Amino acid sequence: MSSDTKIKLGKRLQHIEAMVSEHYDHIWDCCCDHGLLGAALLSRQAASHIHFVDAAPSLMHALEIKLSRFYPTNTESNSHWHTHCLDAATLPLQDFNGRHLVIIAGVGGDLMTELVTAIHQKNPICNIDFLLCPVHHQFTLRQQLIQLGFSLKNEILITENQRFYEALLVSTANNPHTKIHSVGNLIWQSNTPQQSKIAGDYLQKTLAHYNRIQLNPEAAVQHIIDAYSAITIPPHSY
Ligand SMILES: C[S@@+](CC[C@H](N)C(=O)[O-])C[C@H]1O[C@@H](n2cnc3c(N)ncnc32)[C@H](O)[C@@H]1O
Repeated sequence: MSSDTKIKLGKRLQHIEAMVSEHYDHIWDCCCDHGLLGAALLSRQAASHIHFVDAAPSLMHALEIKLSRFYPTNTESNSHWHTHCLDAATLPLQDFNGRHLVIIAGVGGDLMTELVTAIHQKNPICNIDFLLCPVHHQFTLRQQLIQLGFSLKNEILITENQRFYEALLVSTANNPHTKIHSVGNLIWQSNTPQQSKIAGDYLQKTLAHYNRIQLNPEAAVQHIIDAYSAITIPPHSY
């Protein structure tokens, strides 16, 4: 981590970071671990306040030392950092005025679903943008976002080390024109042969996953298989 050189992010975090294009007063890098994503956002002063949140005290202690060293408190800076050692479900958004972006990446989709639901319930009148990149259980997460009435701002498909990740930028502000789809929409549209191939591989892998689950007679995933089977990946438009 360094304030004057560009933070080296892996491909997944680079793509997530690039999805932050609007101005926010507060960006919350939840489940931040070593804080790389938040530090990259702090370096480019993406918000007036960058909040680093993780439930692990030892991680937050180490991060606070690094941030103090590389980003000393400077009243002239347009971006200030804060650390919070807490369960992301209890984010104190209401204590801070302004526009909020809550980022949660690198945790399971089930936990992410719980965190988003809890944050939304605790801050019902606040318009919040969420940038979410779960590990697995994307369908569950999407179902809950639809249930909560969120709207879609952007979604992308990322590959890193032969793994696939969906990243969704969504808002609590209801907008009927930008509905979230239960299996995604923009992620299947491609402009290049390479993107087409990635989308095709992801679709195949996802269907194989649910077909394996379906082997268990107790599993109730036929509706998920049907939804993914209905996806067509258009040939690239070159
Ligand atoms: C694999 S790291 C993800 C790091 C980074 N966000 C990324 O995408 O690479 C997961 C982190 O989530 C933290 N964590 C798990 N549950 C949490 C919760 N409920 N609230 C806050 N942090 C949590 C863990 O302590 C861990 O540091």
